[in-house]
Parts: sequence; structure tokens; C-alpha cells
Amino acid sequence: MRTQVAIIGSGPSGLLLGQILSGAGIANVVVDRTRRDHILARVRAGVLEQGTVRVLDQAGLGARLHNEGLIHDGFSLAFDERDHRIDLAGLTGGKHVTVYGQTEITRDLLDARETDGMLSLYDVEDVVPHDFDGERPYVTLIHDGKPLRIDCDFIAGCDGFHGASRRAVPPSAMTCYERIYPFGWLGLLAEVPPVSHELIYANHARGFALCSMRSLSRSRYYVQVPAGEKVEAWSDQRFWDELRARLPRHHAEKVTTGPSFEKSIAPLRSFVAEPMRFGRLFLVGDAAHIVPPTGAKGLNLAVGDVHYLSEGLCEHYREGSEAGLEAYSARALSRVWKAVRFSWWMTTLLHRFPEAGAFETKIQLAELDYLTHSRAAASMLAENYVGLSY
Ligand code: FAD
Ligand code: DHB
Repeated sequence: MRTQVAIIGSGPSGLLLGQILSGAGIANVVVDRTRRDHILARVRAGVLEQGTVRVLDQAGLGARLHNEGLIHDGFSLAFDERDHRIDLAGLTGGKHVTVYGQTEITRDLLDARETDGMLSLYDVEDVVPHDFDGERPYVTLIHDGKPLRIDCDFIAGCDGFHGASRRAVPPSAMTCYERIYPFGWLGLLAEVPPVSHELIYANHARGFALCSMRSLSRSRYYVQVPAGEKVEAWSDQRFWDELRARLPRHHAEKVTTGPSFEKSIAPLRSFVAEPMRFGRLFLVGDAAHIVPPTGAKGLNLAVGDVHYLSEGLCEHYREGSEAGLEAYSARALSRVWKAVRFSWWMTTLLHRFPEAGAFETKIQLAELDYLTHSRAAASMLAENYVGLSY
């Protein structure tokens, strides 16, 4: 089989890249080791920057997003039995974020790809990118029990943190930076109205908690749990009790509980692989970098990478120019490191670290108090939260 761009991974990075390239008349094939129904069952991101919404709009994916997405122009920081609103719009000259689940974006992308008749192969095994340092790269895999080779001009490694693309790069060609946090997020999804119409990020002596949502009738909540915790140890009742214990009383009293229909634990890490281009192989999204979820940057970064790479590929095929492809890694990494810093900072500000003593806790509270009194400090938070421009 031959195509122009072979895309490994059918998460938001791979599907969005495929969508933009198809729109520009560039042939592509998406391959994924997971089944399509499993891809659609994953519950992950919920908060989109305006830049992300713009890229999705330009790719023709705005209809349901604008209909069902919730515009949020503020969120709360809760600590010390109080609550402070970060006025995103007021602090950033009118910017906001949109609450629209990654599951919905993935569904929109899969539907669009199928409507356009673009080829995707699911449930494949042993995906390996080859010869990307030369002129004729190709990808091998097993599909329906049979070996398949996809010859292409470029390979986009959109296969997440545990994918095959980054692993195919010789370690000597790459530098990795990593921080692993000693805790994870236990997330729960339930068909109950959210406790508040805006998100609440809570710093509490028992650990961090986040109140988010997917719609006005569907809530997404998270609590910090120790690394290595098992989801089986958390009945719904234990989760609801722990969530309420970590919120200021006036919020805790208003939490509507109900049976969960998804519960899972995500470990927290910061990770960056540099560079993001190796000859004709490009790493995109979580394949190249991971941020802890605090601040909601992972999916937004993936969309930023796709924006830069699709520009480079379109320039290559349209004008024969290599400038965009050559600039890809540096442009993406400059944005990535700012989000890595912001996510690390927000994680450090809001979570309980096992090794932290009374001093570190006092420093967290002083910084939270500073954010409530200093417009400059709150503006830094708001500017990063709504997303730096690109
Ligand atoms: P992925 O979504 O990981 O997709 C990779 C795809 O590659 C998968 O379909 C996988 O099956 C496939 N694959 C893997 N290995 C192989 C292989 N060897 N061969 C073939 N295919 C392979 N981000 C935000 O911006 N906002 C948020 O609010 C937010 N909240 C989050 C909350 C949680 C609990 C978590 C866990 C993450 C959150 N994120 C958030 C991060 C966001 O979900 C990720 O950054 C995003 O999924 C990255 O997309 P991706 O396409 O690069 O990778
Ligand atoms: C969600 C996830 C985040 O990481 C965040 O900062 C806000 C919301 C969510 O899944 O809804």
C-alpha cells in the first residue's frame, strides 16, 4: 500500500492531522492498535483553549462543538474553607475556554473521516516505522493476521506516550526530560448536575480535588490519590465522601451524588522528548510530551503540534517548500515547554506532596492568597489557562 502521510495513532492528534491533510488533498492512512469502540470509550480531556477551537473550526469540526460546548469565562480556586474566582475574561481581555469532552471530539473526527471515505486500520499489531532517516520511509504492521507494508513520504507518530514511534528513534538522537509525581488522579463520571456552573480546583489537607463537567447534567470529578492506588479500592460512596471532604462546606453541601459510569486512575508525569522531528518521522502530541492534567493542557498542546505540522506538510506539497517542516520541532517545543512549566506550577500549587511538611503547606497557602490579591499574579494564571497564542 502507498500513501503520502502514514499516521500512527487514532487519538485526537492522528485524527485531526488526517482531517486537515485530507481537506488539503493530501492522502493519508491512520493505523491504531486499539479497537474503534475502545477509542471512543476513553474519557480524558474536557477543557479546550480558544486556539484549539479555532483549529477544529478550520478543519470543519465546529458544528456540534459550538452547539453543545459550554463557554467558561472563569473558574474557582478553593482553599482554606474559601473560594476565589479567577475571572478569565476580565484578566485576559475577554478570552474564555470551552468545556467539550475529548470523547466528543474523537467521535466528531471519526465520523468526519468515515464520511470522507479516508482509510483507517484498527486493531493492528506490531506497528513499526522504518527508514525515516532516508527518502523512502515505510511502516510495517499486522492487519487481520497478515503483514502489511505502507510506503509513504512522511510518518506522523501520533501514538501517545506508550506508542511505537518514539521507541523507533535511537536513544542517542533524542534527549528526554521527565518528572514523575508521587500521586495520580482518580476520575469519576456520573449523570448528575455539576456542583457549580464553573470548575473548582481545590487545595486541601487531604489532597487536591477538581470539580469539572461534560454538560449541565453530567459531572466529571477528580481526587488526588497516592501513586499505585487501585481503582477497585474506591467504591462510589468512598469517592463522594472524599470529594466532599476536600471542598469548602458551601460547595460540599451542594454535591449531587449518583452512580458512576466511568472511574479510572491517571498517573501524573511531566515528560518532553527533544527534538520532535527525526528525518521523515514527526512526533506529535503525547508521543512527544506529557503534562500532568492540572491546567488542562495535554490535548491543547496536541492540537498546537498538529497545527504546526499540517502547515509544514501543506507547504511542502503545495509549494515544494521545506521551511515549515524544518521549523516544526522548534515551534512546537517553544509552546510545549511553556505548558510544561504551567502544568508543573499548577500541580505544585494545588497538590499535597507526601514529603511536604508544614513549611511547604504554608508556602502554597501564601501563593494562593497572593493570587487572590494580586492582579498581576492572577493574570499570569489566566493567560496561561486560556492558552498562549500561536
Ligand atoms: P492519545 O490520545 O494517547 O492517542 C494515541 C493513540 O495511539 C491511541 O488511540 C492509541 O491506541 C494509539 N497507539 C498507541 N500505541 C500504538 C502503537 N504501538 N501502534 C498503533 N497505535 C498506537 N488535556 C487537555 O488539553 N485538557 C484537559 O482537560 C485534559 N484532561 C485530562 C484528564 C485526564 C484524566 C487525562 C488522562 C488526560 C487529560 N488531558 C487533558 C490530556 C489529553 O487527554 C491528551 O494529551 C491527549 O489524549 C493526547 O492526544 P494524542 O492523540 O496525542 O494521544
Ligand atoms: C478536566 C481535566 C483537567 O485536567 C482540568 O484541568 C480541567 C478539567 C476535565 O477532564 O474535565
